[in-house]
Amino acid sequence: MATTTAPKVIRSARQQEMQRMLAIFGGTPVSPAPVPFMSTALTQADKDAVNSVLDSGMLRAAKRCEELETRWASMTGCEYAMTCANGTVALQLAYEPLVQPGDDVLVPAWSYIATVSMVVARGANPVFVDALPDTYQIDMRDAARKITRNTTAIAATHLYGCPVDIDAVESFAEEHNLAVVYDAAQAHLATYKGRKLGEFGDAVTYSLYATKNFATGEGGLITCNEESLAREIALLRSHGETEKYLHEQVGYNYRMNDMAGALGCSRLDRLIDQTVQRRRVANAYDRMLRQIDGIIAPVATPGSDPVYHLYVCQLDLRRMNCTRDEFCAALKAEGVPTAVHYPRSLPQQPALMKWNKNDNPVADGLAQRVFALPMHHDLTDDQIRIVGESVHKVAEAYRN
Ligand SMILES: Cc1ncc(COP(=O)(O)O)c(C=O)c1O
Repeated sequence: MATTTAPKVIRSARQQEMQRMLAIFGGTPVSPAPVPFMSTALTQADKDAVNSVLDSGMLRAAKRCEELETRWASMTGCEYAMTCANGTVALQLAYEPLVQPGDDVLVPAWSYIATVSMVVARGANPVFVDALPDTYQIDMRDAARKITRNTTAIAATHLYGCPVDIDAVESFAEEHNLAVVYDAAQAHLATYKGRKLGEFGDAVTYSLYATKNFATGEGGLITCNEESLAREIALLRSHGETEKYLHEQVGYNYRMNDMAGALGCSRLDRLIDQTVQRRRVANAYDRMLRQIDGIIAPVATPGSDPVYHLYVCQLDLRRMNCTRDEFCAALKAEGVPTAVHYPRSLPQQPALMKWNKNDNPVADGLAQRVFALPMHHDLTDDQIRIVGESVHKVAEAYRN
């Protein structure tokens, strides 16, 4: 959640009047009850699915994980889907066969840390590529400026559920003979030019973390289309074991379990409908925010159909007499919780400073301006209205 700091003194007489009306200064809030930021409720069918695994006593990855893999492969348009413990190790398992220690890997400066930290864990060097200011996705022109002789791969995150410019990534990768890993941790069922995400790249990874559009608590999926790569990933996932206690290579235990598999299968039944609902909310937000001066709505990559894991907008700080955190604190008081994804660009993270060349101005700037509005499939028309009214009210009070 955004941090709460005391708003600055507001200047004009009109703004002072508007300020008095803000709930954070004692005015009446737009909504006495907060709009729920996310919806994680399980159904009885979800609980029954997990309980039947518990009753069976077969807790390890077994039939339900296999079922999830088969269904995920068909829903995302790929040949092979493998469950694993979480989205971080999904990335690690994808990188290990495709990237060698010492390689340079082009990575987004604007993403969650795992996209990059698993490149570092592989012993490779992340080369940060800046973000596009409107879509927040990797800027392939900047990638062209930053590629080195030593670059062997590119990792691109479909951030907030919006696909990157996949055509640009694919043609760049082909030209430079790069492996491509797409981090789709936030982009379950997104499409690009009518095609499913599993059709692109060497590997695609997903997180099934508790708050994701598709969640099993902890969990992950890796997809690919090459049999040899799928075999290698499957071996790495389970100690390189080809027969019981015969280890062909050194690997890990990064397996899922069948409780998570069963929960995934059960929740998958609703994912398509829930994604439609998220798009409905996003369309309504787009329409409302277009009317509000000083608020910049997210833009989808041309040809993409995002799934809005997060609806992240920007405050135009030149138009506002407050910081992003002050704006979010005022929204919270009106009944609209927000969250900041992310308060720092990745090159600005202490853990990754070593690779920071201070050449990602867009990503660094986004950290000051972005905030996410409530987004989930259960938002009612009235809650959407409350969000729009609150953003409008706070923007009116803080606009220069
Ligand atoms: C873009 C991105 N990549 C990777 C991950 C890592 O996934 P997990 O938390 O399941 O390890 C996340 C999770 O938040 C993410 O958002």
